[in-house]
Amino acid sequence: MRRAMIIKYRTKPARYAVVGHPVEHSQSPWIHHCFAAQLGENIDYTRLRAPLDGFVACVRRFFAEGGRGLNITLPFKLDAYVLADAVSPRAAAAGAVNTLRADTDGLYGDNTDGVGLVRDIEHNLKLALKQRRILLLGAGGAARGVLPALLEAAPAELVIVNRTAARALELAQHFAPLAEHLACKLRGGGENVARGAFDIVINATSASVTATQPCFNSCAITEGTLAYDLMYGAQPSIFMRTAQRLGARVSNGVGMLVEQAAESFFVWRGKRPNSAPVIEQLRVRMLKTA
Ligand code: ATR
Repeated sequence: MRRAMIIKYRTKPARYAVVGHPVEHSQSPWIHHCFAAQLGENIDYTRLRAPLDGFVACVRRFFAEGGRGLNITLPFKLDAYVLADAVSPRAAAAGAVNTLRADTDGLYGDNTDGVGLVRDIEHNLKLALKQRRILLLGAGGAARGVLPALLEAAPAELVIVNRTAARALELAQHFAPLAEHLACKLRGGGENVARGAFDIVINATSASVTATQPCFNSCAITEGTLAYDLMYGAQPSIFMRTAQRLGARVSNGVGMLVEQAAESFFVWRGKRPNSAPVIEQLRVRMLKTA
């Protein structure tokens, strides 16, 4: 049996944590301790459950007590964006922050979700997004968070479909200048705005949480499609099972989870972990704990 590598340091570890509500399910402590062991970094990473009305106080206390960085998960990514003293261009574009770092001149906010998704699709699943047709399902915080990075990957077309069509239309209008700059055709609306088959269909709705199927036209998925669910669990979601039946290649968001964590680690520590073995181990770990 392989043993976990335990490294003993003489100095106190640098403190990091993930803040959310709920947060008990988070795999982030395990992922970041894997990265730290890989790179010989002395860190301690824990979970912080902030009360729904107590996010700011929780974050302020953590940094006042010497914490170095935080990951922010649901439902606080917008609060973190407002709280940060300065934000990266990609966090500004997403309007949300999932990574906070204590700098000498205040809190720096970044968003690594989009780059995590694109890296998983392009690097791990080996599908270059340039000139592809992408269908994005959902128009909430998760969809908005990954949209700038998807557009930066230069697809030929990106269509946003949402149960409430007006929200998808609004999101498409918001990102129209960036899409135009990148020569990407961007549209949004109800399921009828998506015509024909897509190279990749991304489920960014929260439908999988309630084990329901997001609405989309089934013509969108064929044998050549990659169907990607941002959600992750030991079992495939209803969206993934439907896509599989339609002949698509499917993936859940485990790779994205590890890749966004790797990027946060880089923002904090200036070192890039090797994510591939961590993704592989996390898939096994999730099956064992299911
Ligand atoms: P998140 O931050 O996870 O994106 P959100 O901002 O509440 O959460 O957005 C949830 C998204 O999932 C929305 O696009 C929502 O559609 P509506 O705008 O119509 O509410 C979508 N969603 C949630 N449950 C769904 C379901 N059962 N079928 C289809 N879409 C669903």
